[in-house]
Amino acid sequence: MTPLTPATLAAELQKLPLHNETALRVIALLDDPDVEVTDLGRLIQTDPGLTTRALKLANSTFFGRRTEVTAIDKAIVAVGFSTVRTFALAAAFDLFTEKGVSLPKNFWHHAIASAAGTTVMARRLRMSAGDAFSAGLIHDLGVALLHRYDTTAYESRITPDMPEEEAILVEREVFGIDHCQAAAMTLTEVRFPRVLVDAVALHHDPVRRRWRSRPDLSAVVTIGQLLGGLITPTGGVVATDQMDIWLGALGLNIPSRTIVSELVTTYSEVTGYIAI
Ligand SMILES: [Fe+2]
Ligand SMILES: [Fe+2]
Repeated sequence: MTPLTPATLAAELQKLPLHNETALRVIALLDDPDVEVTDLGRLIQTDPGLTTRALKLANSTFFGRRTEVTAIDKAIVAVGFSTVRTFALAAAFDLFTEKGVSLPKNFWHHAIASAAGTTVMARRLRMSAGDAFSAGLIHDLGVALLHRYDTTAYESRITPDMPEEEAILVEREVFGIDHCQAAAMTLTEVRFPRVLVDAVALHHDPVRRRWRSRPDLSAVVTIGQLLGGLITPTGGVVATDQMDIWLGALGLNIPSRTIVSELVTTYSEVTGYIAI
């Protein structure tokens, strides 16, 4: 197999089945600094999946709205560009469907669980829940890309229950890069904002080295996806002694049972936004 470099990965990306043309156009339009919300709304409306998800999320308790949002323009403003961009990216890469496309086992559950974990942490730190939700949802995009690039090689060496830290070492051996690098290259290629690219690129690095006065988005994603890893497919949480250390790494001194109950509630909310 040819090792993946930025150049080969870019070439491979062209071959991926990007089914959703509207989603790609949404990503391109969001590139334009002068983009008008009305133009974006008009384009999104041509895709029922994106429209439904944006409206559902805008009307959810997630953003604490009291009045109902029925217009797509208002929904875009409510959920923010980073969330719209992430939904579009997930649709473009066919991450929303498990039918007919190859995704590693448990990929989607881990994505949603991690989005719940990052959201809980962002709320606790009074940071943007939209950015944290987006970064959490997309943080393991690289896993899907490597798996799709060579499914046989991936599945022969990486098992679904292998800890991610161990899988990363195998990925480097098999593909020449790991899933953090693969996702960072891809997100850079589709011009995702730097702050989201960095958060995804660093999500397996130790948190403490990265921030001094205040945790940043990448620290939130690192800890949020670890918390997400404790959420079972049925929505329960397997608490561990590690939780206190993880919360401490973000400067949070909160009983882990409080976080467990917030994770359970948020996971069920997030599952509701994503499913149509
Ligand atoms: Fe990861
Ligand atoms: Fe992960």
